[in-house]
Amino acid sequence: MKSNRNPLDGKSNRKGGIPYWEKMKPKADVVRSKVAKKKPTAPSEKNLGWDDVAQWYEKLVGHEGSDYHQHVIVPALMKRLGDLRGKRLLDLCCGQGFLGRILLEAGAQEVLGVDASPQLIAAASERAKAAKKLRYLQADASEAGAWADGSFDFVMCLLAIHDVKNLHGLCANLFASMGQHGAAYIVMMHPCFRVPQHTHWGWDVENQLQYRRVDHYAKEREIVITTHPGKAASEQTIFYHRSFGTIIETMARCGLVLSGCEELLSHRRSQKGPRSDAEHTAAEEFPMFLMLEVRKQRVLK
Ligand SMILES: C[S@@+](CC[C@H](N)C(=O)[O-])C[C@H]1O[C@@H](n2cnc3c(N)ncnc32)[C@H](O)[C@@H]1O
Repeated sequence: MKSNRNPLDGKSNRKGGIPYWEKMKPKADVVRSKVAKKKPTAPSEKNLGWDDVAQWYEKLVGHEGSDYHQHVIVPALMKRLGDLRGKRLLDLCCGQGFLGRILLEAGAQEVLGVDASPQLIAAASERAKAAKKLRYLQADASEAGAWADGSFDFVMCLLAIHDVKNLHGLCANLFASMGQHGAAYIVMMHPCFRVPQHTHWGWDVENQLQYRRVDHYAKEREIVITTHPGKAASEQTIFYHRSFGTIIETMARCGLVLSGCEELLSHRRSQKGPRSDAEHTAAEEFPMFLMLEVRKQRVLK
């Protein structure tokens, strides 16, 4: 049976442990003066998408979505989307396509999923085979493409903006794919509090509180994420960290304006223990994800 304890902190009772992207962090109790500076070895440039880690991601997300998808991200997204009857939807950087079925069941007229990884697109197509209104296309979401044709009512981009190297290209395609009155919903790791390897939980003994330590934020960073530490170096992806300001500014330059913003907390809570109250408080103070709703600028003028 899986332990619910945070594996990085023997005293913590934080339930459910840590998401994969945060695993490579120092022990939560230890305030380190220096973060080990390892020069990142870039995953193969040939592979824009996630082919090298596709099998692992398919297993992690499965048919229903990961734990965070199911309990935090999808409920928040569906609440915003509202009635989907008659709507055309685009799932940008769709991965293995778990979301398509959920959108169709909510009444969507048609869903197109686009992703750079041939393997993930193959998994998504396999998953969708019985659903005629669900189509998948392998393409770079940051390059111009015929699919970005201004016909979509809603565009989704879940947990992927930080996996795309060319943010400007991605935002330009968000703009190009949406209809005049369309909206895009972008869910990302919260750029202020969740920078892999550069933000951590810590324990303040004197004040008996759990704090969030942010070592680096403002500078753009390419952070190598190893999905199976110790295994093949190819099982890596790059997380492109950008500040909140950079993200909003890039969107604005592509003609997108913010029409909604929601900071999503983790649903996971500690089991009862000496620190559980403090851990609850921290979990309710520091959001895990940021959801942005953006629209075409001229619609608002
Ligand atoms: C963390 S996964 C998220 C997948 C899916 N949205 C989900 O929530 O499960 C990030 C995805 O971004 C895709 N990706 C990265 N760069 C891309 C690009 N330039 N164009 C299209 N997809 C890209 C990867 O292939 C991967 O499927």
